[in-house]
Amino acid sequence: MVVVEKVKEMQKIIDSHRSEGKRIVCVPTMGYFHKGHLSLMELAREYGEIVVTTLFVNPTQFGPNEDFERYPRNFQRDFELAQSFGIDYLFAPKIEEMYPDNFYTKVIVGKFTDKFEGVKRPGHFDGVATVVTKLFNATKPDVAIFGQKDFQQALVIKQLVKELLFDIKIIVAPIVREADGLAMSSRNVYLSEEERKLAPRIFEALNLGIKAVQNGERRRKQINSIVLQHLRQFREFFIDYVAAVDSETLDEPEEFSPGQTVVILVAVYLGKTRLIDNVLVTVP
Ligand code: PAJ
Repeated sequence: MVVVEKVKEMQKIIDSHRSEGKRIVCVPTMGYFHKGHLSLMELAREYGEIVVTTLFVNPTQFGPNEDFERYPRNFQRDFELAQSFGIDYLFAPKIEEMYPDNFYTKVIVGKFTDKFEGVKRPGHFDGVATVVTKLFNATKPDVAIFGQKDFQQALVIKQLVKELLFDIKIIVAPIVREADGLAMSSRNVYLSEEERKLAPRIFEALNLGIKAVQNGERRRKQINSIVLQHLRQFREFFIDYVAAVDSETLDEPEEFSPGQTVVILVAVYLGKTRLIDNVLVTVP
């Protein structure tokens, strides 16, 4: 595996592979790899001959009071994991390479950003859309892989690709979980032992939502309150939002229709750590 720090060098490498007829697959990440990231890298291999993982903790997607400074980082460990997963290139630019002085451009995606994460984390998706646009232009992939874990982010990226005419196929991979159901996240390392014990209750609550829908519950607010009720038993959770919504539009009808795929989105604080999770369920 080759580590590349410079955009121009990355582009040159990709151009030469493309001229050999190779398909390029990109897996954007902020590093501190866990099995979720690694599952995306594994999946990437199925879509092309050259796999590029990007590793960049993007400052513009963190709010002023968020965890950019303390976001977990371990380049050596990430390097070894990516290498052992057969990644061809690790694109790991320095901040100055991605955001030189006098950087004025922002990519702003509408519609999917006006709810949930977009409202709770103002500017977050502008930072994501801007950096992903740059990462796409640096790695020029045919295919890019994202995780369902960041459900809204995946919708934002799909919209961005469609509307800005990027010739890139976006694949969304399922959520990888710990044995007890907790969705893997780089931020899980922030959890204390006590918090870690409680964290699987989030998935438990989401599963109650799935069951309710499968048993015939179509009323949106009723689905929400089933999930909320479970979480509220544990006063350690501060609930940011629970929302059952249409999985393609994020619309919130009073009642879902048979055949409609609903995503139940959750964001909670457990102590200082903000955790997000979601599940998909199709209305019978
Ligand atoms: P990061 O949080 O590092 O996540 C990188 C990718 O891994 C994202 O597509 C995310 O959805 C996916 N992922 C995270 N946890 C996962 C899990 N448990 N199972 C499956 N996939 C999982 O998302 C970002 O970085 C950034 O916003 C980025 C897109 C790189 C832009 O900076």
